[in-house]
Amino acid sequence: MAVGTHGDSPRSAARGEPARAEPGPGLEGLAKVAGRIRGAVESVIEGKPAAVRLALTVLLAEGHLLIEDVPGVGKTMLAKALARSVDCSVRRVQFTPDLLPSDITGVSAYNQELREFEFKPGPVFANIVVGDEINRASPKTQSALLECMEERQVTVDGTTYALEPPFMVISTQNPVEMEGTYPLPEAQRDRFTARISMGYPDPSAELAMLDVHGRSSPLDRLVPVAHATDVRELIEVVRGVEVSADVRQYVIDLISATRSHPELRLGASPRATLQLVKAARAYAALDERDYVIPDDVQDLAVPVLAHRLLTTTEAQVDGRRSEHVVADLVRRVPVPAPGR
Ligand SMILES: Nc1ncnc2c1ncn2[C@@H]1O[C@H](COP(=O)(O)OP(=O)(O)OP(=O)(O)O)[C@@H](O)[C@H]1O
Ligand SMILES: [Mg+2]
Repeated sequence: MAVGTHGDSPRSAARGEPARAEPGPGLEGLAKVAGRIRGAVESVIEGKPAAVRLALTVLLAEGHLLIEDVPGVGKTMLAKALARSVDCSVRRVQFTPDLLPSDITGVSAYNQELREFEFKPGPVFANIVVGDEINRASPKTQSALLECMEERQVTVDGTTYALEPPFMVISTQNPVEMEGTYPLPEAQRDRFTARISMGYPDPSAELAMLDVHGRSSPLDRLVPVAHATDVRELIEVVRGVEVSADVRQYVIDLISATRSHPELRLGASPRATLQLVKAARAYAALDERDYVIPDDVQDLAVPVLAHRLLTTTEAQVDGRRSEHVVADLVRRVPVPAPGR
Protein backbone atom coordinates (compact mmCIF):
# COMPACT_ATOMS: atom_id res chain seq x y z
CA MET A 1 0.00 0.00 0.00
CA ALA A 2 1.19 3.45 -0.70
CA VAL A 3 -0.15 6.61 0.83
CA GLY A 4 0.36 10.04 -0.53
CA THR A 5 0.53 13.32 1.25
CA HIS A 6 -2.02 14.60 3.69
CA GLY A 7 -3.57 16.33 0.74
CA ASP A 8 -3.38 19.94 -0.23
CA SER A 9 -2.94 22.31 2.62
CA PRO A 10 -6.03 23.99 4.01
CA ARG A 11 -4.34 27.31 3.25
CA SER A 12 -5.56 27.25 -0.34
CA ALA A 13 -9.17 27.63 0.65
CA ALA A 14 -8.45 30.24 3.27
CA ARG A 15 -6.26 32.40 1.09
CA GLY A 16 -8.00 32.06 -2.27
CA GLU A 17 -6.91 30.07 -5.31
CA PRO A 18 -3.62 31.08 -6.83
CA ALA A 19 -3.47 31.48 -10.61
CA ARG A 20 -2.84 28.27 -12.59
CA ALA A 21 -0.18 27.95 -15.28
CA GLU A 22 -1.29 27.12 -18.80
CA PRO A 23 -1.20 23.42 -19.72
CA GLY A 24 2.25 22.18 -20.84
CA PRO A 25 4.14 25.17 -19.50
CA GLY A 26 7.34 24.94 -21.57
CA LEU A 27 10.27 27.17 -20.77
CA GLU A 28 8.21 30.33 -21.00
CA GLY A 29 5.64 29.01 -18.56
CA LEU A 30 8.43 27.90 -16.27
CA ALA A 31 9.92 31.37 -16.25
CA LYS A 32 6.53 32.86 -15.44
CA VAL A 33 5.75 30.54 -12.54
CA ALA A 34 9.32 30.64 -11.25
CA GLY A 35 9.24 34.44 -11.45
CA ARG A 36 6.11 34.49 -9.31
CA ILE A 37 7.65 32.20 -6.68
CA ARG A 38 10.86 34.21 -6.70
CA GLY A 39 8.92 37.45 -6.31
CA ALA A 40 6.94 36.03 -3.41
CA VAL A 41 10.02 34.82 -1.55
CA GLU A 42 11.92 38.04 -2.23
CA SER A 43 9.05 40.05 -0.78
CA VAL A 44 10.03 38.48 2.53
CA ILE A 45 13.80 37.99 2.25
CA GLU A 46 15.55 41.27 1.58
CA GLY A 47 18.67 41.55 -0.55
CA LYS A 48 19.33 37.85 -1.12
CA PRO A 49 18.43 37.18 -4.77
CA ALA A 50 21.22 34.63 -5.26
CA ALA A 51 20.12 32.55 -2.27
CA VAL A 52 16.51 32.68 -3.46
CA ARG A 53 17.50 31.62 -6.98
CA LEU A 54 19.50 28.70 -5.63
CA ALA A 55 16.61 27.59 -3.44
CA LEU A 56 14.34 27.63 -6.48
CA THR A 57 16.94 25.77 -8.54
CA VAL A 58 17.01 22.99 -5.96
CA LEU A 59 13.20 22.78 -5.89
CA LEU A 60 13.09 22.38 -9.69
CA ALA A 61 16.02 19.96 -9.68
CA GLU A 62 14.03 17.66 -7.35
CA GLY A 63 16.68 18.11 -4.72
CA HIS A 64 17.03 19.00 -1.07
CA LEU A 65 18.46 22.18 0.37
CA LEU A 66 20.71 22.76 3.36
CA ILE A 67 20.81 26.32 4.66
CA GLU A 68 23.78 26.75 6.93
CA ASP A 69 24.62 30.02 8.63
CA VAL A 70 24.96 31.92 11.87
CA PRO A 71 21.83 32.75 13.91
CA GLY A 72 19.32 35.35 12.82
CA VAL A 73 20.16 35.76 9.14
CA GLY A 74 16.84 34.51 7.80
CA LYS A 75 17.42 30.76 7.31
CA THR A 76 14.09 29.69 8.75
CA MET A 77 12.44 32.65 7.04
CA LEU A 78 13.71 31.55 3.61
CA ALA A 79 12.58 27.96 4.17
CA LYS A 80 9.15 29.08 5.32
CA ALA A 81 8.73 31.65 2.55
CA LEU A 82 9.56 29.13 -0.18
CA ALA A 83 7.28 26.53 1.37
CA ARG A 84 4.45 29.02 1.74
CA SER A 85 4.66 30.41 -1.79
CA VAL A 86 3.84 27.02 -3.29
CA ASP A 87 0.36 25.73 -2.56
CA CYS A 88 1.25 22.26 -1.40
CA SER A 89 1.44 20.31 1.82
CA VAL A 90 4.12 21.67 4.10
CA ARG A 91 5.27 20.28 7.42
CA ARG A 92 7.82 21.70 9.75
CA VAL A 93 9.89 19.69 12.17
CA GLN A 94 11.85 21.39 14.89
CA PHE A 95 14.75 19.05 15.54
CA THR A 96 15.58 18.46 19.19
CA PRO A 97 17.78 15.86 20.91
CA ASP A 98 14.75 13.87 22.12
CA LEU A 99 13.04 13.64 18.72
CA LEU A 100 12.56 10.01 17.67
CA PRO A 101 12.75 8.59 14.13
CA SER A 102 9.04 7.72 14.31
CA ASP A 103 8.28 11.39 15.06
CA ILE A 104 9.37 11.97 11.48
CA THR A 105 8.28 8.91 9.56
CA GLY A 106 5.08 8.02 11.41
CA VAL A 107 3.90 5.06 13.47
CA SER A 108 1.57 2.10 13.27
CA ALA A 109 -1.02 2.34 16.04
CA TYR A 110 -3.66 -0.20 17.02
CA ASN A 111 -7.18 0.90 16.17
CA GLN A 112 -9.54 -0.57 18.78
CA GLU A 113 -12.66 -0.20 16.63
CA LEU A 114 -11.25 -1.71 13.47
CA ARG A 115 -9.15 -4.18 15.43
CA GLU A 116 -6.15 -3.63 13.24
CA PHE A 117 -2.98 -1.61 13.05
CA GLU A 118 -3.32 1.69 11.32
CA PHE A 119 -0.46 3.77 9.94
CA LYS A 120 -0.33 7.35 11.12
CA PRO A 121 1.90 9.20 8.65
CA GLY A 122 4.54 11.47 10.15
CA PRO A 123 5.51 14.95 8.98
CA VAL A 124 7.72 13.56 6.23
CA PHE A 125 4.53 12.88 4.23
CA ALA A 126 4.41 16.35 2.76
CA ASN A 127 5.61 18.06 -0.39
CA ILE A 128 7.94 20.39 1.44
CA VAL A 129 9.43 19.37 4.76
CA VAL A 130 11.20 22.08 6.69
CA GLY A 131 13.66 20.46 9.07
CA ASP A 132 14.78 23.24 11.35
CA GLU A 133 18.11 22.93 13.17
CA ILE A 134 18.71 19.43 11.92
CA ASN A 135 22.01 19.16 13.79
CA ARG A 136 20.21 19.20 17.13
CA ALA A 137 18.66 15.76 16.58
CA SER A 138 20.42 12.51 17.34
CA PRO A 139 22.16 10.78 14.41
CA LYS A 140 19.47 8.07 14.44
CA THR A 141 16.69 10.59 13.93
CA GLN A 142 18.67 12.54 11.35
CA SER A 143 19.19 9.36 9.40
CA ALA A 144 15.45 8.58 9.40
CA LEU A 145 14.89 11.79 7.46
CA LEU A 146 17.88 11.29 5.22
CA GLU A 147 16.68 7.82 4.20
CA CYS A 148 13.42 9.34 2.99
CA MET A 149 15.36 12.01 1.11
CA GLU A 150 17.38 9.49 -0.87
CA GLU A 151 14.72 6.89 -1.53
CA ARG A 152 11.60 9.07 -1.51
CA GLN A 153 9.83 6.39 0.43
CA VAL A 154 9.33 5.39 4.03
CA THR A 155 9.33 1.90 5.46
CA VAL A 156 7.52 1.40 8.76
CA ASP A 157 6.95 -2.07 10.22
CA GLY A 158 7.87 -3.71 6.94
CA THR A 159 5.46 -1.68 4.80
CA THR A 160 6.81 0.79 2.28
CA TYR A 161 4.99 4.03 1.64
CA ALA A 162 5.86 6.23 -1.32
CA LEU A 163 6.32 9.96 -0.90
CA GLU A 164 4.51 12.02 -3.48
CA PRO A 165 6.42 14.43 -5.72
CA PRO A 166 7.40 17.17 -5.43
CA PHE A 167 9.24 16.18 -2.29
CA MET A 168 11.79 18.61 -0.98
CA VAL A 169 13.51 18.78 2.36
CA ILE A 170 14.81 22.17 3.42
CA SER A 171 17.02 21.90 6.47
CA THR A 172 18.63 24.66 8.41
CA GLN A 173 21.58 24.45 10.72
CA ASN A 174 23.84 26.74 12.60
CA PRO A 175 27.52 25.87 12.17
CA VAL A 176 28.75 27.97 15.07
CA GLU A 177 26.80 26.33 17.83
CA MET A 178 28.59 23.15 18.81
CA GLU A 179 27.30 22.27 22.24
CA GLY A 180 24.46 19.74 22.22
CA THR A 181 24.58 19.30 18.46
CA TYR A 182 25.35 16.31 16.25
CA PRO A 183 27.03 17.54 13.08
CA LEU A 184 25.75 15.82 9.95
CA PRO A 185 28.16 13.12 8.81
CA GLU A 186 29.55 13.38 5.28
CA ALA A 187 27.30 10.65 3.85
CA GLN A 188 24.32 12.60 5.08
CA ARG A 189 25.55 15.95 3.83
CA ASP A 190 25.95 14.31 0.44
CA ARG A 191 22.18 13.86 0.21
CA PHE A 192 21.64 17.59 0.03
CA THR A 193 21.77 18.89 -3.53
CA ALA A 194 23.09 22.24 -2.42
CA ARG A 195 24.16 24.10 0.64
CA ILE A 196 23.67 27.81 0.81
CA SER A 197 24.56 30.35 3.39
CA MET A 198 22.57 33.54 3.68
CA GLY A 199 25.23 36.02 4.76
CA TYR A 200 24.39 39.37 6.33
CA PRO A 201 22.21 41.66 4.23
CA ASP A 202 23.95 44.80 2.96
CA PRO A 203 23.05 48.00 4.84
CA SER A 204 20.41 49.14 2.33
CA ALA A 205 18.69 45.73 2.39
CA GLU A 206 18.80 45.76 6.16
CA LEU A 207 17.22 49.20 6.17
CA ALA A 208 14.50 47.92 3.84
CA MET A 209 14.03 44.99 6.23
CA LEU A 210 13.37 47.45 9.06
CA ASP A 211 10.71 49.16 6.97
CA VAL A 212 9.03 45.98 5.82
CA HIS A 213 9.46 43.85 8.93
CA GLY A 214 9.23 46.59 11.52
CA ARG A 215 5.60 46.16 12.48
CA SER A 216 4.46 42.77 11.27
CA SER A 217 6.01 39.87 9.42
CA PRO A 218 5.47 39.93 5.65
CA LEU A 219 5.45 36.14 5.86
CA ASP A 220 1.94 36.37 7.26
CA ARG A 221 0.83 38.21 4.12
CA LEU A 222 2.48 35.75 1.73
CA VAL A 223 -0.02 33.80 -0.34
CA PRO A 224 0.74 30.77 -2.52
CA VAL A 225 1.55 31.78 -6.10
CA ALA A 226 1.91 28.30 -7.62
CA HIS A 227 0.36 24.86 -7.19
CA ALA A 228 2.12 21.60 -6.46
CA THR A 229 0.94 20.48 -9.92
CA ASP A 230 2.69 23.51 -11.46
CA VAL A 231 5.89 22.45 -9.75
CA ARG A 232 5.50 18.91 -11.07
CA GLU A 233 5.09 20.31 -14.58
CA LEU A 234 8.11 22.55 -14.21
CA ILE A 235 10.19 19.59 -13.04
CA GLU A 236 9.22 17.83 -16.29
CA VAL A 237 10.35 20.85 -18.30
CA VAL A 238 13.67 20.87 -16.45
CA ARG A 239 14.20 17.18 -17.22
CA GLY A 240 14.07 18.07 -20.92
CA VAL A 241 16.92 20.59 -20.75
CA GLU A 242 19.82 19.43 -22.88
CA VAL A 243 23.32 18.84 -21.55
CA SER A 244 25.81 18.58 -24.42
CA ALA A 245 28.63 16.06 -24.49
CA ASP A 246 31.13 18.89 -23.94
CA VAL A 247 29.36 20.15 -20.85
CA ARG A 248 29.06 16.61 -19.48
CA GLN A 249 32.78 16.14 -19.97
CA TYR A 250 33.41 19.45 -18.22
CA VAL A 251 31.38 18.28 -15.21
CA ILE A 252 33.36 15.04 -15.10
CA ASP A 253 36.65 16.97 -15.32
CA LEU A 254 35.63 19.19 -12.40
CA ILE A 255 34.47 16.26 -10.28
CA SER A 256 37.58 14.18 -11.06
CA ALA A 257 39.77 17.10 -10.07
CA THR A 258 38.24 17.08 -6.57
CA ARG A 259 39.20 13.42 -6.16
CA SER A 260 42.89 13.99 -6.78
CA HIS A 261 43.25 17.42 -5.22
CA PRO A 262 46.11 17.55 -2.68
CA GLU A 263 44.11 19.76 -0.32
CA LEU A 264 41.13 17.40 -0.20
CA ARG A 265 40.88 14.12 1.67
CA LEU A 266 37.37 13.41 0.42
CA GLY A 267 36.39 14.24 -3.15
CA ALA A 268 32.95 14.48 -4.78
CA SER A 269 30.78 11.36 -5.14
CA PRO A 270 28.99 10.15 -8.28
CA ARG A 271 25.83 11.31 -6.51
CA ALA A 272 27.36 14.78 -6.58
CA THR A 273 27.96 14.46 -10.33
CA LEU A 274 24.33 13.57 -10.96
CA GLN A 275 23.06 16.34 -8.75
CA LEU A 276 25.35 18.93 -10.30
CA VAL A 277 23.96 18.13 -13.75
CA LYS A 278 20.37 18.11 -12.50
CA ALA A 279 20.85 21.44 -10.76
CA ALA A 280 22.52 22.90 -13.87
CA ARG A 281 19.45 21.91 -15.92
CA ALA A 282 17.16 23.73 -13.50
CA TYR A 283 19.49 26.74 -13.38
CA ALA A 284 19.51 26.94 -17.19
CA ALA A 285 15.74 26.60 -17.34
CA LEU A 286 15.35 29.51 -14.91
CA ASP A 287 17.30 31.51 -17.50
CA GLU A 288 14.83 30.32 -20.16
CA ARG A 289 17.49 28.23 -21.89
CA ASP A 290 16.82 24.67 -23.03
CA TYR A 291 20.51 23.79 -22.84
CA VAL A 292 23.14 23.97 -20.12
CA ILE A 293 26.23 26.13 -20.60
CA PRO A 294 29.51 25.86 -18.63
CA ASP A 295 28.60 29.06 -16.74
CA ASP A 296 25.64 27.23 -15.14
CA VAL A 297 28.02 24.54 -13.89
CA GLN A 298 30.48 27.14 -12.67
CA ASP A 299 27.83 29.13 -10.79
CA LEU A 300 26.62 25.97 -9.07
CA ALA A 301 29.98 24.31 -8.36
CA VAL A 302 30.47 25.82 -4.89
CA PRO A 303 26.89 25.45 -3.57
CA VAL A 304 26.53 21.93 -4.98
CA LEU A 305 29.99 20.53 -4.24
CA ALA A 306 31.66 22.32 -1.33
CA HIS A 307 29.58 20.85 1.50
CA ARG A 308 30.42 17.31 0.41
CA LEU A 309 34.19 17.71 0.42
CA LEU A 310 36.66 17.38 3.27
CA THR A 311 39.91 19.29 3.36
CA THR A 312 43.16 17.86 4.72
CA THR A 313 44.46 18.95 8.10
CA GLU A 314 47.28 20.86 6.41
CA ALA A 315 44.81 22.79 4.27
CA GLN A 316 42.76 23.58 7.37
CA VAL A 317 45.84 24.92 9.14
CA ASP A 318 46.35 27.22 6.15
CA GLY A 319 42.78 28.41 6.58
CA ARG A 320 41.66 26.80 3.33
CA ARG A 321 38.07 25.65 3.19
CA SER A 322 36.42 23.40 0.63
CA GLU A 323 34.68 26.46 -0.90
CA HIS A 324 38.10 27.90 -1.72
CA VAL A 325 39.28 24.66 -3.30
CA VAL A 326 36.16 24.37 -5.50
CA ALA A 327 36.46 28.02 -6.53
CA ASP A 328 40.10 27.38 -7.51
CA LEU A 329 39.10 24.34 -9.54
CA VAL A 330 36.45 26.36 -11.35
CA ARG A 331 39.17 28.79 -12.36
CA ARG A 332 41.69 26.09 -13.31
CA VAL A 333 39.77 23.29 -15.05
CA PRO A 334 39.58 24.18 -18.76
CA VAL A 335 36.13 25.14 -20.03
CA PRO A 336 34.92 23.52 -23.29
CA ALA A 337 35.15 25.79 -26.33
CA PRO A 338 32.06 27.97 -26.93
CA GLY A 339 29.26 26.62 -29.13
CA ARG A 340 27.31 23.54 -28.18
N1 LIG B 1 17.73 39.14 4.57
C1 LIG B 1 16.68 39.29 5.39
N2 LIG B 1 15.54 39.82 4.92
C2 LIG B 1 14.48 39.97 5.71
N3 LIG B 1 14.44 39.62 6.99
C3 LIG B 1 15.52 39.08 7.53
C4 LIG B 1 16.72 38.89 6.76
N4 LIG B 1 17.65 38.32 7.55
C5 LIG B 1 17.07 38.19 8.76
N5 LIG B 1 15.80 38.64 8.75
C6 LIG B 1 14.86 38.68 9.89
O1 LIG B 1 15.54 38.22 11.03
C7 LIG B 1 14.68 37.44 11.84
C8 LIG B 1 15.35 36.11 12.16
O2 LIG B 1 15.33 35.28 11.03
P1 LIG B 1 15.28 33.69 11.14
O3 LIG B 1 14.47 33.27 12.29
O4 LIG B 1 14.89 33.19 9.80
O5 LIG B 1 16.81 33.40 11.43
P2 LIG B 1 17.60 32.03 11.45
O6 LIG B 1 18.73 32.22 10.49
O7 LIG B 1 16.68 30.90 11.21
O8 LIG B 1 18.18 32.03 12.93
P3 LIG B 1 18.46 30.79 13.93
O9 LIG B 1 19.73 30.14 13.49
O10 LIG B 1 18.62 31.49 15.24
O11 LIG B 1 17.27 29.89 13.86
C9 LIG B 1 13.39 37.27 11.08
O12 LIG B 1 12.42 38.06 11.70
C10 LIG B 1 13.67 37.79 9.70
O13 LIG B 1 12.61 38.54 9.26
MG1 LIG C 1 16.01 29.31 12.42
